[in-house]
Amino acid sequence: MSEEILINKEIDDAGIYEQILPQVEELINGNEPVVTGLSNITSLLKTAFDKISWVGFYLVRDNKLFLGPFQGNTACTVIEFNKGVCGTAAERRETIIVDSVEEFPGHIACDAGSRSEIVVPLVYKKNVAGVLDLDSYKYSAFGATDKKYLEQLCEILINKLNWEEFSLS
Ligand code: SME
Repeated sequence: MSEEILINKEIDDAGIYEQILPQVEELINGNEPVVTGLSNITSLLKTAFDKISWVGFYLVRDNKLFLGPFQGNTACTVIEFNKGVCGTAAERRETIIVDSVEEFPGHIACDAGSRSEIVVPLVYKKNVAGVLDLDSYKYSAFGATDKKYLEQLCEILINKLNWEEFSLS
């Protein structure tokens, strides 16, 4: 089934998030595979925000983060917990905002053009199932507004998709 996304981008970021969050509910279906839902979410975010250079999910298998659905350039396929921004957010189970990737020790540069980043963990029943990673070619592209709405978005993904049956293997 195809789903059309409707977004007016002539407003601020909070206004864009307010438009897309209700559409998240429409785009995902708990009876379909988790990666199917996540795939459309990457498209939704990339389409909504011009500031995003790369958006995607890394998903946990064997206590490592493996590349999942994404939009943007090809990227690193596996990240250890506690490595890079993604592994650090997964280990701490908290959102990390990086205003300047040069200043984050251990940042993993999949794309040399990336300047700032936000990573939000997906926590299902106290276990990290994966992370949502957004990159930008601009410094300080992400802030408190992004954190607030992306955490809400991840909460919807955790509640609506079937993580019980999810497996990367
Ligand atoms: N920069 C990330 C790696 C993933 S790419 O940005 C797609 C990190 O440091 O974990």
